[in-house]
Amino acid sequence: MKKNFILSVLMVVGGMTASAQTYLNPNAPVEERVKDALGRMTTHEKIKLLHAQSKFTSAGVPRLGIRQLNMDDGPHGVREELEWNTWSPARWTNDSIVAFPSLTCLASTWNRDLSQAYGNAVSEEFAFRGKDIMLGPGVNIQRTPLNGRAFEYMGEDPFLAGEMVVPYIQSAQKNGVACCLKHFVLNDQETDRFGVNVNISERAMNEIYLAPFKRAVEKANVWTIMGSYNMWKGVHCCHNDELLNGILKKDWGWDGALVSDWGGTTNTMEAAMGGLDIEMGTYTDGKTKESDFGYDDYYLGNAFEKLIKEGKVPMSVLDEKASRVLRTIFRTAMNPQKVIGNQCSEAHYDVCRQIGEEGIVLLKNEKNILPLDIAKYKKYSNILVVGENATRSLTQGGGSSELKTLHDDSPLDALKRRYETMIDYAQGYYSGRAMYDHVDKLDPVKQAELKAEALEKAKSCDLIIFIGGLNKNTRQDCENGDRESYDLPYGQNELIAELAKIQKNIVVVTFGGNPYAMPWLKDVAGVVHCWYLGSEAGKSLVNVLSGVVNPSGKLPVTFAQKYEDYPYVKFGAEAYPGVNKQVYYKEDIFVGYRHFATNNVKPLFPFGYGLSYTTFAYGKPTVEKTGDAVTVSVTVTNTGKVAGKEVAQVYVTYPQMEQARPVKELKAFAKTPLLDPGESETLRMTIPMDDLAVYDEEGRGWDIAEGMYTFSVGTNVNDIKGKADVQIDM
Ligand code: BGC
Repeated sequence: MKKNFILSVLMVVGGMTASAQTYLNPNAPVEERVKDALGRMTTHEKIKLLHAQSKFTSAGVPRLGIRQLNMDDGPHGVREELEWNTWSPARWTNDSIVAFPSLTCLASTWNRDLSQAYGNAVSEEFAFRGKDIMLGPGVNIQRTPLNGRAFEYMGEDPFLAGEMVVPYIQSAQKNGVACCLKHFVLNDQETDRFGVNVNISERAMNEIYLAPFKRAVEKANVWTIMGSYNMWKGVHCCHNDELLNGILKKDWGWDGALVSDWGGTTNTMEAAMGGLDIEMGTYTDGKTKESDFGYDDYYLGNAFEKLIKEGKVPMSVLDEKASRVLRTIFRTAMNPQKVIGNQCSEAHYDVCRQIGEEGIVLLKNEKNILPLDIAKYKKYSNILVVGENATRSLTQGGGSSELKTLHDDSPLDALKRRYETMIDYAQGYYSGRAMYDHVDKLDPVKQAELKAEALEKAKSCDLIIFIGGLNKNTRQDCENGDRESYDLPYGQNELIAELAKIQKNIVVVTFGGNPYAMPWLKDVAGVVHCWYLGSEAGKSLVNVLSGVVNPSGKLPVTFAQKYEDYPYVKFGAEAYPGVNKQVYYKEDIFVGYRHFATNNVKPLFPFGYGLSYTTFAYGKPTVEKTGDAVTVSVTVTNTGKVAGKEVAQVYVTYPQMEQARPVKELKAFAKTPLLDPGESETLRMTIPMDDLAVYDEEGRGWDIAEGMYTFSVGTNVNDIKGKADVQIDM
């Protein structure tokens, strides 16, 4: 009797404790935890949630046992630890990680399963490092090939970027790590990024620039989003009421937390009322040194608390922001399903290597110079490798995405392992240090000596593999500045042209997040573009060069023959990079291939392009309209001699409309599994009717036009293998 009494008292107390502290009950629904926690907090504690307490953390509520949020860049791996209050490395000895390939490379795979694997692996590294939010991925549109950060994004097409980012986010968040999708929105250039105001039509804004973000919100419910530095309609995007409260939170129904870019907040009232939830990285505000500026001095710190206390901003605004932050904490830091993760596991290196192998794009392969199967190509007894990127660490530099890796496999090392004693090397050029906001002055004498050495060695080799391209130096693929030219830097064009005169068997391999001009294209036998491949660069590249892997990457951007061919260039500086910090997107929705295909401008390599070591035949496509979707089916057969994968791409041509439309727009794609010679696969690609809607500026909404639609199935935007029409009536 007594025993039972004690037991029931314990149960009541236990029960009371559990219900009284719902926010600590990991099994309670997140919304109940949020409500309960909020009800226990003081105004000051709520304010504390809304801004940084160090370079990369924001506070929790220690008194209540609510954890802080640990954030880190992103997006290709976990950034090294920095000091609590400065940008200096903390010099930890346990924070070396795997660098995964750049997001451009992931987009180039056109393989949703690899995106899922990427999100899973990278978030496991974040989790193991104790992080709750990874600052990435990025889906800004590659409007210009000069964009210093294009390598962190997923190309020029909103559908491809949106489709490829969704599995990444889903798998990362399944592990209890929030993605922070960036940079919302229109951060499409680095020149004047802190203040440029983007002038754009509503149609282009909705159909092109917002579209991948919207997909990530609707299909993956991304938990956090980072505002961008630039302005839209004269207001900074980190606290732009129309953009954040209007479009993102109200129209799209997004329930996550909006994180500012580091130093992207400029005004307390705007930050309070304009939809910002967590302010990070602020320290200017008239103070001369970072250390003069305390975290309570943030715009959403003391100054915001004063507005609340004086009744100038209603408590509901503070509660709304605090709820969004609490929701993020319960989804991540206090999520019972959050994984422990691991760092530098074999599985992660495998994912890294595979994404690299499938993202590499074979652009030219004259007389089948590739693959360099050593057993078959015995004649290459003396291979000369030329170029700085054969040995340079391309995980260094670039800005916030720089990584400290446990190990990097360089192309030269991997080539030496595969081809043993046959490899000689000449650097050919040099580029200086990869330092943020600093460009080394290069010595022309040293440059000439390196070139002369390479040309001399070229005379006695049988094959040249040139390994160059861009790098992560300032004014190349690096944050806070765009490239200065569409050409390859450091004299590479001249060097390649001269090498090609000496040796016709020359394969040019380039790294870089952007397209570039190839004035020497007709003089070289092969061209391979690698984006950035991360820690397993050497293995991925050599597996493709040697034929262990058959390339299947397809360009997520158009390579123009010359810079002037990009759609905005003819509109002058107003269209890029802007005049007096005003930039006008005058090409409107005709970005990338939408312009090249519609205006018949012949690219060097079209969007969606990429060669294989085998060939594929396409059957006649069929289109079926069922309910609220259209399904396009096509059979792809491997007609060559080696196994390979192919990406079928579906482009729609709309019925005649009042407003000009591109002649082709990507609406579906699918990648075959590895097909053996002679093997076929029927791909079925379903396009929900909503994906066919176009933005109507007058009605300020989405419309589905009635009429005859053409669905073209191709191996790239310019190589259409078959078409089928379907009438759409609503
Ligand atoms: C970048 C962000 C980055 C942040 C923190 C900013 O300069 O624009 O992408 O996440 O720094 O490093």
